[in-house]
Amino acid sequence: MLIKDIFKAGALNGEVKVSGWVRTKRDMKNLVFVEVNDGSCFAGLQCTFDKGRGLDAATEAALSRLTSGASVVVRGKLVPSPASGQKIEVAASALVVVGEADAETYPLQKKRHSLEFLREIAHLRARTNTFAAVARVRSRMACAVNRFFEERGFFLVHTPIITANDAEGAGAMFQVTTLDIPALAAASTPPDWSRDFFARRCYLTVSGQLEAETYATALSRVYTFGPTFRAENSNTARHLAEFWMIEPEVAFAGLSDLMSLAEDFLKYIFADTLERSADDMTFFDQRVQKGAIENLEALVKSKFTHITYTDAVNELQKAKDGFGFKPVWGADLQTEHERYLTEKVAGGPVIVTDYPKDIKAFYMKLNDDGKTVLAMDVLVPRLGEIIGGSQREDDLGKLKKRMTELRMNIEDYSWYVDLRRYGSVPHSGFGLGFERLVQYLTGMANIRDVIPYPRAAGQADF
Ligand code: 4AD
Ligand code: MG
Repeated sequence: MLIKDIFKAGALNGEVKVSGWVRTKRDMKNLVFVEVNDGSCFAGLQCTFDKGRGLDAATEAALSRLTSGASVVVRGKLVPSPASGQKIEVAASALVVVGEADAETYPLQKKRHSLEFLREIAHLRARTNTFAAVARVRSRMACAVNRFFEERGFFLVHTPIITANDAEGAGAMFQVTTLDIPALAAASTPPDWSRDFFARRCYLTVSGQLEAETYATALSRVYTFGPTFRAENSNTARHLAEFWMIEPEVAFAGLSDLMSLAEDFLKYIFADTLERSADDMTFFDQRVQKGAIENLEALVKSKFTHITYTDAVNELQKAKDGFGFKPVWGADLQTEHERYLTEKVAGGPVIVTDYPKDIKAFYMKLNDDGKTVLAMDVLVPRLGEIIGGSQREDDLGKLKKRMTELRMNIEDYSWYVDLRRYGSVPHSGFGLGFERLVQYLTGMANIRDVIPYPRAAGQADF
């Protein structure tokens, strides 16, 4: 039985079997307290062995060698606990050590370890309170994402991971090849990509959006939720080289519909996580980000602030705070600007719209002013951007003109351009970085701590 089910059933005086890993063992004269955790919920179960009542020889022997980290099976009776902080415990009668953990070398001996240290033992860190809580919350959030879209008539589309197109036009892509590059280099032979595996240059996707658009113009409402890769060398607490992105794409929808969808979506995930991960969120609220629960509860009831990029730049220029980067119209908002807008101007999430076309991707729909596009970014306190999206250019002529301006090879995107040729419709979509959302909810400061095995520049050790 999982420990979470034992807590839920709570049937006193029943026989239970607990399987898990030893967190701590304390010896007190005749009593030995063993805290067993199986990761099924935040709390572990205390198993109390009373030597005075006589334990069998095998259990006595197992107890004497028992160390933190060992895997065990404990049998006993569920009884009310006299200790504070727990309602029930196991009056244990038998212990079997399934796998030992050498106390000399097991790295998780202390009660608390730094997050930096735990990053170096990523294969064991899920055995700590913090990382087990992150893993559970992350999993439940992923389910909530799928449920949200399912309830609203969206279909999940598995867009390709290997692709020939640069969806964002940013060029930060990892190439996929089976050519023997070192051998070619040694022979000073330039690679002939037509002889590569896919008979052309291919990459790991930076976004499933373009393919999602093709399905949105057939199924009306779709989303992708998959791994995404960016070879940008940004060594920050909010960038990964491999992250998971959620990208809804909606036909017959404009920017304001998209803004409502993004707000509804975030609120749904907040409320769902508060409800379904209450124990883990209590831990984050107390130990990681004070006030997290209250803040999220308030957000669910709030209305997000809307501001255009132009007004945002004006606000930033009026600000007394000195910024490292001067806010100027036409330049990308820096993280410090995004934080100012959310933390000082709005005191909560902000949706910034109508960015200059030159700092946004080719597919965004041009506004009548000819200078800005129907883009939106959702910014949140502490992290800045967590969502980027837009209404898409659905006019064939305008899209081709923009692609030509950006010196893109229209031939390569003929399938994408076709959507504007056959039954074109206004459509919109956004991308949400799943790890940033997990960071936002849990309060974890570094994005490397909300994904099991982070990949970032110079880091792929596990
Ligand atoms: O703003 P981005 O680049 O937008 C797109 O890729 C669009 N194709 C989305 C769409 O309209 N369908 O990325 C979207 C989000 C960002 O707001 C951020 O949350 C996350 O993806 N993101 C990253 N997360 C972690 N590490 C990185 N290197 C990230 N780059 C983007
Ligand atoms: Mg963006």
